[in-house]
Amino acid sequence: MNKREINQLVDWITTAQRIVIMTGAGVSAESGIATFREAKDSLWAKFNPQQLASPEGFANDPETVWQWYQWRRQQVLSASPNPAHGGIAKLQLKFDASLVTQNVDGLHQKAGSPEVFELHGNLFRDRCNNSVCSYQRDSIDVSAPLTLCPQCESSYLRPSVVWFGESLSAHVLDQVTEKTARCDLFISVGTSAEVYPAAGFADLAQSNSARILEINPNVTVLSTRADWVIAEPAGKVFQSLMEALEK
Ligand code: OAD
Repeated sequence: MNKREINQLVDWITTAQRIVIMTGAGVSAESGIATFREAKDSLWAKFNPQQLASPEGFANDPETVWQWYQWRRQQVLSASPNPAHGGIAKLQLKFDASLVTQNVDGLHQKAGSPEVFELHGNLFRDRCNNSVCSYQRDSIDVSAPLTLCPQCESSYLRPSVVWFGESLSAHVLDQVTEKTARCDLFISVGTSAEVYPAAGFADLAQSNSARILEINPNVTVLSTRADWVIAEPAGKVFQSLMEALEK
């Protein structure tokens, strides 16, 4: 970013009354975690989401799905937050800024974000696959085997993440909708903006006259509608922003 862009970013942040920051897999890319939709090395380029991230896939082959999530947990456990996670946490502490993430990796919390609306759940929680059973547990043991729920003893435990075809938490959606409808600056960071309902929040903010800022080195479906696109890696952008704010 050049000096003029950094000054403009500082101006947008400091003059906003209410900010909503929406993050996706790209915010964790500089922590070494694979994104979902980029050409090479992304998760959905290598693995089949219908097999590994759907209720049908789990019903067909729970062991394979369980082991795939254990592998992902292992990758994420060894990752550290990067300057984008750290910068976003600082913005939350300094300004009226709400954080909404599609990520399940917990890196925003690790970086010190005081509140995180997790649209797609969290990799380090298990829940019973039977939606009528309320059993949940924290799950950081990456060698734990697939097991039946200790409460209902009839269904398997599964990661508490949202799979394709499943509904998001109505409670989280209500809170995010309320925050987004009232914000005057909406920042979309590191997401392809292709997966709904998350992708619809930028439209909601824009229809209520909020400025839309996108931070993403690649063009997305949001780019042409955004008021400003900073086409650089999020870690670099937030590092420059933090240095400018701390001056
Ligand atoms: P995607 O993989 O679809 O998009 C990642 C975005 O991050 C791309 O637009 C990249 O250009 C961008 N990106 C890559 N490196 C970046 C960097 N250093 N800084 C900023 N941006 C960078 O991931 P999501 O949009 O998060 O859902 O995908 C949304 C949902 O689809 C995920 O939550 C997941 C997936 O299926 C579920 O698992 C339910």
